Amino acid sequence: MKGNDMAGKTSKKKTVAEKSKKVVKTAAKTAKPRAKTVDSGIRPAAPKAYAAVAVKDSRNGKGFELPILKGTVGPDVVDIRKLYGEQGLFTYDPGYGSTGSTQSAITYIDGDVGILTHRGYKIEDLAENSDFMEVCYLLLEGELPTAKQKAEFEKNITYHTMLHEQIARFFSGFRRDAHPMAVMVGVVGALSAFYHDSTDIHDPRQRMIASHRLIAKVPTIAAMAYKYSVGQPFVYPQNNLSYAENFLRMTFAVPAEEYKIDPVVAAAMDKIFILHADHEQNASTSTVRMAGSSGANPFACIAAGIACLWGPAHGGANEAVLKMLAEIGHKDNIKEYIGKVKSKQDNTRLMGFGHRVYKNYDPRASVMRKSCHEVLDALGKRNDPVLELAMELEKIALSDDYFISHKLYPNVDFYSGIILQAIGFPTSMFTVLFAVARTVGWVAQWKEMIEDPTQRIGRPRQLYTGYGERPYVPINKRK
Ligand code: ACO
Repeated sequence: MKGNDMAGKTSKKKTVAEKSKKVVKTAAKTAKPRAKTVDSGIRPAAPKAYAAVAVKDSRNGKGFELPILKGTVGPDVVDIRKLYGEQGLFTYDPGYGSTGSTQSAITYIDGDVGILTHRGYKIEDLAENSDFMEVCYLLLEGELPTAKQKAEFEKNITYHTMLHEQIARFFSGFRRDAHPMAVMVGVVGALSAFYHDSTDIHDPRQRMIASHRLIAKVPTIAAMAYKYSVGQPFVYPQNNLSYAENFLRMTFAVPAEEYKIDPVVAAAMDKIFILHADHEQNASTSTVRMAGSSGANPFACIAAGIACLWGPAHGGANEAVLKMLAEIGHKDNIKEYIGKVKSKQDNTRLMGFGHRVYKNYDPRASVMRKSCHEVLDALGKRNDPVLELAMELEKIALSDDYFISHKLYPNVDFYSGIILQAIGFPTSMFTVLFAVARTVGWVAQWKEMIEDPTQRIGRPRQLYTGYGERPYVPINKRK
């Protein structure tokens, strides 16, 4: 157990963040249950109103103004926080197409031109020059680390890679054919039953340890879910490897043979993790924030995010892409399949195409497309029929009027599934890999929310369209 946090004991050594943030350290010492949460200092000041929209209520001719707030970049927002209190009105926006649910300083997306930045750095630059650990630090701490900070951060993460041995027994409660995402939801949620010393959300030190634990332990759980499904023994983490290498080894190594890590595959894995690390207020991140807004512990909140990510309209899309390609089967069948999509027959959609925010090429998809070709070349799978089919499908869809007029471009999941299949992951593991990468984004967003003094429990309202009040009918009088 030496040198690792499998049993939930926390490191006695101080981390860089602890050393450098006096305010955090002081607060940790004095933190009492339910004490006021301390800001880590990386969130900019709340935006102030600089203009207003004038609204006229046609029911009574009364006019009122709503303040307009300006962010650093991106569309301004209309501040409706006082709308109900002052005007008795709710807003109506199912699917949140026009609603900003929070202020955030982590990730910015301009979907119309295809821009994605983390803490101001373009995703293409990060994918080209950075590595996943550095991106994790950036998302959590707000700045790129110095060499010393990076080494310290990596040490803190690897310290937490092991799991309490009792957690391994959880797995035998699942059927061998359980979907690994079902296992992930269960086991990640169960972490809250093991690591009580990092569930006080009002203690900044506990928040940080929980964040490190989640980033470190989720890949171990993911690899175990895979090993369990194929009936192989669990492989313990090896902390001298990089995050991506360690994950590949825990997934594919067997005790009977030496496991050699292919550097091209490890680099591709690291890139996949970077490209999926965070994506602003999407469905799963908003789920994490919503769960966290009630004060739930971080392990439970991340389990909620994993559950949301599972759906085929979100993180399940990479798995759905491969299923779709298998269904199409051959290039000759593409036209017929596209016809089915366009006529909306059986609600068929071109999986891996379209995005709520990107109405242009997803910048992550361009990086992933290049990486996809590199991996297939390195693995000698250039003429892979699945890739050929995917490339043909992409070509036809991008020149088709329906997809052009609906601004439907390939998203990151269109290519990630192909790479993951070439590496040897079964399709059922694709979304699990997404969850491994996204854990840092969820954690950073959760932490930002807890440290936001304006944070309240998330509680949307509704436009009620059911019955008005009516008398209760006894059972013997019902028709
Ligand atoms: N194939 C065919 N038509 C589509 C597709 C698609 N993949 N996506 C959207 N459309 C069409 C819709 O039918 C609709 O057409 P209409 O205006 O003629 O009725 C129009 O485009 C708008 O569609 P919405 O469903 O309103 O778009 P929304 O923003 O709600 O959906 C989503 C975004 C869920 C990603 C959608 O594009 C989709 O289902 N794509 C396939 C699944 C997928 O790849 N998901 C991954 C998302 S990325 C991620 O999570 C990493």
